[in-house]
Amino acid sequence: MKTFEKQIRIIQEECNQAIRKAQSEEALEQVRITFLGRNGKIAPLMVKLKTFSTEEKRILGPLLNELKTTTHAAYEKRKAELAQEITKQDDRRQQYFDVTAYRYQPLHGSLHVYTHLIEQLSTIFTSMGYEIVDGPELETEYYNFTALNIPADHPARDLHDTFWFHEPGMLLRTHTSTVQAHVMETRQPPIAVFAPGRCYRNEATDASHDFMFIQAEGLLIDKNVSVSHLLATARAFLQTIFEKEDLEIRVRPGYFPFVEPGLEIDASCPFCTSGCSVCKKTGWIELLGGGLVHPNVLHYSGIDPEKYSGFAFGFGLERIAMIKHGINDIRLFRSNKIQFLDQF
Ligand code: PHE
Repeated sequence: MKTFEKQIRIIQEECNQAIRKAQSEEALEQVRITFLGRNGKIAPLMVKLKTFSTEEKRILGPLLNELKTTTHAAYEKRKAELAQEITKQDDRRQQYFDVTAYRYQPLHGSLHVYTHLIEQLSTIFTSMGYEIVDGPELETEYYNFTALNIPADHPARDLHDTFWFHEPGMLLRTHTSTVQAHVMETRQPPIAVFAPGRCYRNEATDASHDFMFIQAEGLLIDKNVSVSHLLATARAFLQTIFEKEDLEIRVRPGYFPFVEPGLEIDASCPFCTSGCSVCKKTGWIELLGGGLVHPNVLHYSGIDPEKYSGFAFGFGLERIAMIKHGINDIRLFRSNKIQFLDQF
């Protein structure tokens, strides 16, 4: 019985000390578990009490009760103290809160890379006397194909993966060459227009193909227009857009039913002289399609091919932007990623 009494005293002492020492709510909770919890040190004493005689219980019972009440009271008191300390600390923190330490940084809007490029191109072409024109994105088969010398059974139609509407003959334009026909129908030469705008192709997307992209079309019709006018124009605008005065161009034969001869125009790589990753070690990059407007196209649109000739060229804006800015995925243009958009 004496040892049990002693045990009660020791636990009481230990518990009170631990409670006093607890410096945080977590530490205090640990003390509660160790001593007052269901599996704590006090619980087995209650079990052991049952093994004593009634006489002994009369002495030990109140002792145990006292142990329980005093330790519980000490625990509650410390808990209140700690809570008060925390509010005090919060108050102090609020008092010393430095309002200048954190400043909300608003996001700054910036123009899309498309807008930059269209503005740049428009400046170049208006300075050469061109007018900037627009055409519909929702088109008819006639303007997208027939008027451009691509009749219904022409295999070139297969090259344009087209989004057709249920409405017969209606489609999303697959290129900006449609604008040629619209412009020539309504005006007589001299004509010099530049038409940037969205185009659509019904094809799978990857890093270099998207179902929506922006093309730009240049068209010039007058008397005695020749390939050399086209080449001089292409070189001048590429030199300006890539900010490289000694940029050269080269020409390869190309096939587009609405021009004859048809040309593929490459630019010398703006970044190297001996081959780099941009030009795939060739020193040249493919940029434009172009040629002299086919007499059939002039004729369809009401311009006399005997009197007038002209050139047309077209290119993808994304390709120019990707080369200029080192963008490696065409899908980024309409991704709405802030990190991407922020750079321009
Ligand atoms: N429209 C052609 C294309 O989508 C490009 C082009 C335009 C070619 C004008 C020649 C003349 O590929």
